[in-house]
Amino acid sequence: MHAIEIKNLKKSYKNEVAVKDMDFYVEKGDFFGFIGPNGAGKTTTIQCIMGLLKFDGKISIFGNDNVIDYIEARKLIGFSPQEENLDPFLNVEQALHFTAGYYGLKKDKIKERVELMLKDFGLVKHRKKNTRALSGGMKRRLLLARSLVHDPKILILDEPTAAMDVELRQDFWKLMKRINGEGKTIMLTSHYIEEVEQLCNTICIVNEGKIIAMDKKETIMQDLSNQELKIKTNKPVPSDLIKVEACKIIHENTHTLVVGKDIRKKANGIIKIIEKAGIKIEEIDIRNESLEKVFLRITQTNANQSEALKITPEILKDKK
Ligand SMILES: Nc1ncnc2c1ncn2[C@@H]1O[C@H](COP(=O)(O)OP(=O)(O)O)[C@@H](O)[C@H]1O
Ligand SMILES: [Mg+2]
Repeated sequence: MHAIEIKNLKKSYKNEVAVKDMDFYVEKGDFFGFIGPNGAGKTTTIQCIMGLLKFDGKISIFGNDNVIDYIEARKLIGFSPQEENLDPFLNVEQALHFTAGYYGLKKDKIKERVELMLKDFGLVKHRKKNTRALSGGMKRRLLLARSLVHDPKILILDEPTAAMDVELRQDFWKLMKRINGEGKTIMLTSHYIEEVEQLCNTICIVNEGKIIAMDKKETIMQDLSNQELKIKTNKPVPSDLIKVEACKIIHENTHTLVVGKDIRKKANGIIKIIEKAGIKIEEIDIRNESLEKVFLRITQTNANQSEALKITPEILKDKK
């Protein structure tokens, strides 16, 4: 049985189709990354899963139809929304108590879970603070704590790290890894593709209300990512010296960049040609394209199918 199963999901707002037709499932225990450009339909899909919107299609949560068996379905999910929706009349501790009570936890259990959440999310010191008095990062932490307080089997996070600084984000990553390791299924959307690359096992890329790629991270990377071979030489490599099938070659002064599939296998040949021409190689670097580049390329080529390989000289410059 899948943690989340979505069949023929369609959702339109008044004059806009936000989700065209989505079919996918999230496996139990998976860390599922749901990414796509702004307006792709991620939040709408999540709100349908949460039963916050009416939709066409069918959504099941561990076999519970989220319309018919909505009480069971809702209990199984913890949710941290993209837009903060904390009650301004409650303090941190009360916000957690209130949610735990809403899910029907017993008094002792509520106390235990609230204390654990305060501790896990670094909120012990702030427990008596009104939610309005919290910084953006702290509000995010409270939203996460609140989503987990009833110990759900599934955690759905819509842009959870948007207002977090680097340190907080790294703590969050550790915590999410731990929670997933403990068996919780996590569905995450994020603007930080790097975050999704680090955390998720399965990646689902959506654009304009449709899924354009979905698979295990390794398979997505193997199928869709290019490799980049960077060569620095003692003098410029003439632009007609190297030709590699189905690869893009960019020359910029003494830097040469070759981008394409299976570059690792082709690298030796390329190096030999350069050396044969009496040019000395000073540095070589070969690496896989990041998920972010794959993401940008395929969401852009989705809009413009003719450009199969979209590269700018920007990537010649080291970003580190
Ligand atoms: N409440 C709404 N009313 C009308 N249109 C909406 C509403 N919410 C979202 N949309 C539209 O639906 C599309 C998908 O939005 P959304 O699901 O928020 O995308 P994402 O989360 O991927 O950025 C967008 O074009 C957005 O403008
Ligand atoms: Mg969104």
